[in-house]
Amino acid sequence: MAAVAMRCSRNVRLRPAFGAAFSPRCCASSTASAATATRAVAVSSVNPLPKQVKIVEVGPRDGLQNEKLTVPTEVKLQFIDMLSETGLPVIEATSFVSPKWIPQMADQAEVTQGIRKRPGVVYPVLAPNLKGFQAAVKAGADEVAIFSTVSELFAMKNANCSVEESLQRAEEVTRAAKAAGVRVRGYVSCVLGCPYEGHVSPDKVAQMAKHIYAMGCYEISLGDTIGVGTPGSMRAMLDAVSKEVPVDRLAVHCHDTYGQALANILVALQMGVSVVDSSVAGLGGCPYAPGASGNVATEDLVYMLHGLGIHTGVDLQKVMDAGAFICRFLNRRTSSKVAQASCRL
Ligand code: HMG
Ligand code: MG
Repeated sequence: MAAVAMRCSRNVRLRPAFGAAFSPRCCASSTASAATATRAVAVSSVNPLPKQVKIVEVGPRDGLQNEKLTVPTEVKLQFIDMLSETGLPVIEATSFVSPKWIPQMADQAEVTQGIRKRPGVVYPVLAPNLKGFQAAVKAGADEVAIFSTVSELFAMKNANCSVEESLQRAEEVTRAAKAAGVRVRGYVSCVLGCPYEGHVSPDKVAQMAKHIYAMGCYEISLGDTIGVGTPGSMRAMLDAVSKEVPVDRLAVHCHDTYGQALANILVALQMGVSVVDSSVAGLGGCPYAPGASGNVATEDLVYMLHGLGIHTGVDLQKVMDAGAFICRFLNRRTSSKVAQASCRL
């Protein structure tokens, strides 16, 4: 298998693993209720796809953290309220990071307090350390997310600490959360490549995921932070990680820089993953991952899942309305192909 080198960001060489053949299989009966005429299509593969997928919407956090324009709190709250009406089960609302580092999230307490929480919807917030966790709980957060990475350079750029220190912080948060009865989700970043270190070993990712899972995170979200993964490298990474963490505890978080996110997600579904992060209108990125684009658009993910007959409980038209609302405010074009296509109808 030829090793193929490609450039990410300005000066990092990455060697993604190209691998196994790609052959999806249809799973369940069509439950699609998409606004557009989405029909379930029969396709075949080795493994059955999940009947149901939980979508974790990260637009208000991962999306807005990377915008130059500071979004007023009232607009964020209206955006989150619109998302709450879509059927999305999880909406990551904000992050309790330092406003000196991420000014766009400086109103984290007001946002957390101001959400009109819809019963059955979970609103996690990012908490990088104990200080962030305590502020999040004080503001009424009932779930937090910690993050770490396999890359020393990314840890330093993103959180001003070593990987070891980031794990210590995560450990402090998970311990305090356990005592307070707060659920914790864990992120591992740069699982398919790092903007500073290049290629990332699947075994290293597996060990990190195992470590964070052992801390007590109920779910581990595997982040392709710079969106350089391919179906081949996704498969290799998940092969390694699923030996260490039960696959029903895994989520994938795919930025779409190289346009591979949906293909990578389909591979993850084939491998048993049934939790997928996405961002309405494809907003987002990490301020410390230069050159990376937003997450896979929620609209495009829902369209694909419904087309496969996979139940999400999400109303595509309402998601598109929320995407149009925030794009109007940001004065930017949506990155969702589905939303763009709908605009032309
Ligand atoms: P630091 O400067 O190293 O921390 O920041 P420190 O402990 O030395 O404290 C310095 C100052 O920050 C002090 O204030 C602290 O009180 C304050 P001062 O005395 O100077 O006035 N401070 C805080 N303030 C508010 N909230 C806090 C907090 N902690 C300390 N929680 C820190 C360390 C982690 C806080 C900083 O580096 C930071 O905020 N980094 C931002 C990281 C971030 O948000 N990155 C983007 C999210 S991660 C991501 O996008 C990836 C993901 O989407 C998955 C994927 O795509 O792979 C999740
Ligand atoms: Mg992200």
